[in-house]
Amino acid sequence: MDLRAPSLELLDGYLDAVRRGWMGDRVLFGSAENLLAMADRDRGAVLSRLADRSRSGIRFLADGTTASALPAIFRWMWDGEFAGSIDLRWPAPGEALPEDVPGHIGFGTVEWRRGRGYATRALALMLHLAREQGLSEVLIVTDVDNDASQRVVERNGGVRGKSVTLPQRIGGGRAYRWRIPLG
Ligand SMILES: CC(C)(COP(=O)(O)OP(=O)(O)OC[C@H]1O[C@@H](n2cnc3c(N)ncnc32)[C@H](O)[C@@H]1OP(=O)(O)O)[C@@H](O)C(=O)NCCC(=O)NCCS
Repeated sequence: MDLRAPSLELLDGYLDAVRRGWMGDRVLFGSAENLLAMADRDRGAVLSRLADRSRSGIRFLADGTTASALPAIFRWMWDGEFAGSIDLRWPAPGEALPEDVPGHIGFGTVEWRRGRGYATRALALMLHLAREQGLSEVLIVTDVDNDASQRVVERNGGVRGKSVTLPQRIGGGRAYRWRIPLG
């Protein structure tokens, strides 16, 4: 499994995963049906929207509104087929992450590829990219009852901090804050 930038060449694999139930990008498209209908009309439009979050300066919020962008890197997990996604975003030097962005990195593996070490490897690869961007640490939040995601962060050197309540507009709930030093 490797990380790949989304591309037209790989788009069919991504669309197959959406047909199988992957919906890691609900906030961007509203629903799988919307996404697939857009792909029928214009495959390039789907790709542009996926790329927008890192390119065009827009941040899509869970309540349907947008905010100004953070620089971001968005990658697909790829093992010959689409296997999940991971993204990194970061604030300007010296600034904290905005309230609606609780962590630098978010990730998800398609259900049918879980338990193969993909998320653990994807995070390790993304940490290299974070280092290349000059970040000295990354923060990640995991739901308190999401043992698998906690394990992924732990296996990548994460140090668990206190549990916090996430803002309602990004889903609410209790979460642990993790710090991964990139020394
Ligand atoms: C969390 C998630 C990304 C893990 O993906 P994955 O590719 O299956 O993860 P890995 O195969 O790298 O497994 C990571 C560790 O979690 C463990 N694990 C997997 N499922 C588990 C479960 N249900 N309960 C406890 N541990 C679990 C694995 O055994 C492994 O630990 P190990 O290295 O000690 O053996 C995946 O379950 C997922 O996409 N969940 C929904 C989205 C999500 O929660 N994202 C995290 C946001 S921070």
